[in-house]
Amino acid sequence: MSRFVVNGGKKLFGEVEVQGAKNSALPILSATVLTRGENILFNCPSLTDVDACMRILRYLGCEAKKQGSAVLVKCDGLRESEIPDSLMREMRSSIVFLGAILARTGYAKLSFPGGCELGPRPIDLHLKALRKMGADICERHGVLECKAENGLKGAKIDLSFPSVGATENIILAAVLAEGTTTIINAAREPEICDLCDFLNEAGAKIYGSGEGVIVIDGVEELFAVSHNIIPDRIVAATLMSSAAVTKGEITLRGVIQSHLSSVIPVFEETGCKVKVKDGDLTVTAPDRLRAMPLIRTMPYPGFPTDAQAPLMAVASLCRGTSVFVENIFENRFKHAGELMRLGADINVQGKVAVVNGVKTLYGASVEAQDLRGAASLITAALAAEGKTEIGGIGYLERGYDSFEITLSSLGADVRKV
Ligand code: UD1
Repeated sequence: MSRFVVNGGKKLFGEVEVQGAKNSALPILSATVLTRGENILFNCPSLTDVDACMRILRYLGCEAKKQGSAVLVKCDGLRESEIPDSLMREMRSSIVFLGAILARTGYAKLSFPGGCELGPRPIDLHLKALRKMGADICERHGVLECKAENGLKGAKIDLSFPSVGATENIILAAVLAEGTTTIINAAREPEICDLCDFLNEAGAKIYGSGEGVIVIDGVEELFAVSHNIIPDRIVAATLMSSAAVTKGEITLRGVIQSHLSSVIPVFEETGCKVKVKDGDLTVTAPDRLRAMPLIRTMPYPGFPTDAQAPLMAVASLCRGTSVFVENIFENRFKHAGELMRLGADINVQGKVAVVNGVKTLYGASVEAQDLRGAASLITAALAAEGKTEIGGIGYLERGYDSFEITLSSLGADVRKV
C-alpha cells in the first residue's frame, strides 16, 4: 500500500471543487442494473470503490467505462446473477447489488460481506426486508442464494434502525416489484435522496425520500438517464477540518449547505467562521481553536459517523476538552491511538472518546486502519510540526479522489510515495 509523506505546518489557502459523493455513486452504479439503455453519471469520483463497482458490473455482463469525471453504464447485456467472492471482498458496499440483481433477474447469489475494519457489519435488516418482499434466501457457508421466481412483491417494512444500506437495498428491490412498498423508519441521508432522484428520473415512482417513510409504487421498467452525483459532504467536512487545523482559509465550491447542517455549527463553536453563498463554502480558522460541543454520531440529520474521525483530529488541537460518542459503529476509534503517536491526548472508553486538546502535534510514522481514519491522520499531519508518514493510504483511496493533489493545490506539502 502507498504512503503519504506530509511536512506539516503549512496554512491551507485557496479554492477547490468538492468531488462527487462516494456513498451516492456506489448505490447509483448498482441501480443502473435495473435500467435499459446507456446511463451517464456525471461528477462520479475516481475511487477504488467505484472501480470495484465497475468491475462487478462488467462481470455481470454490463458495459461500464469512464469518460473524464463521468461514468457510462449500459446494462442491457446483463447475463450473470452471481458475484464471485473475490469481487464481493473488494468492497463491503457490494451488498447493495443484492436488491438490484434480484429485482432484475429473480435470482442472486453472492457471498456474505462479513465483517470489516469497523467491526461486524450484519445485513439482517436487508435480508428480513427482502424475505418480506417474497425472496427465498438461503444462507450457507458464507454464501447467500436468493430467489424470487415469481418476482418480488411490495410490502410494508418497518426497519428497527434506519440502516442506509438496507434502505437502499429495499428501494432497489421495490422499484420493479409488483405493488406498493412502504419503508417505515427509512434512512434519510442525502445519498438516499440522490439514489431516489436517479431512479425517479429513470421512471420509478418513489415518494418521501429524505423523510422517515418512503413509499414506492412498483413500475414495469426503467430507462437510462444522465444524472449528476451530489457533492460529497464527508470530503467537504474533511477539507474544512484541514483548514481549521492549519489556521487557513479555504473555499469549497459546489457544496450543498443543508447536507452539512450538523457539521457547520461544530466548526463555528471552535471559532471558525463559515460563510456559504451560492454553493461556495468558505471556512476561516482562528489562531487557536476552542473545544467542540459534545459530538454524538447519529443517523442523518444527526452528526455523521463518517465525519467523526477527521473532526477528532481538529479536537486534538482545540483549547480544552472535546467529547465524542460513537453511536453507529462499535469499532470506529482506531485512529485515536495513531493520533496519540502524533502527540494527541485522547482517552477512549467503549463508545466514548475524551480529547484533551494540545497546543502542538509532532510528526511521526502512523498507520491508517480504515477510510475515515486515514483522513483523520492526514488532517492531523497537516498541522503537525515536522514530517509525518502515513501508511495504509489504500483505505483513503476508497473514498477520496486524488486527495494529495487537492491538498497540494491548497498549499499543503503532501507527497504520495
Ligand atoms: C453507510 C455508508 C457509511 C456510513 C454508514 C452510516 C455507504 C456505502 N456507506 O454504510 O459510509 O458510515 O452508512 O452512516 O453508503 N446494521 C445492522 N443490520 C443491518 C444493517 C446495519 O445491525 O442489516 C447496523 C450496522 O452494523 C451499523 C449500523 O446499523 O452499526 C449502521 O449501518 P448502515 O446504516 O447500514 O451503514 P452502511 O449502509 O453499511
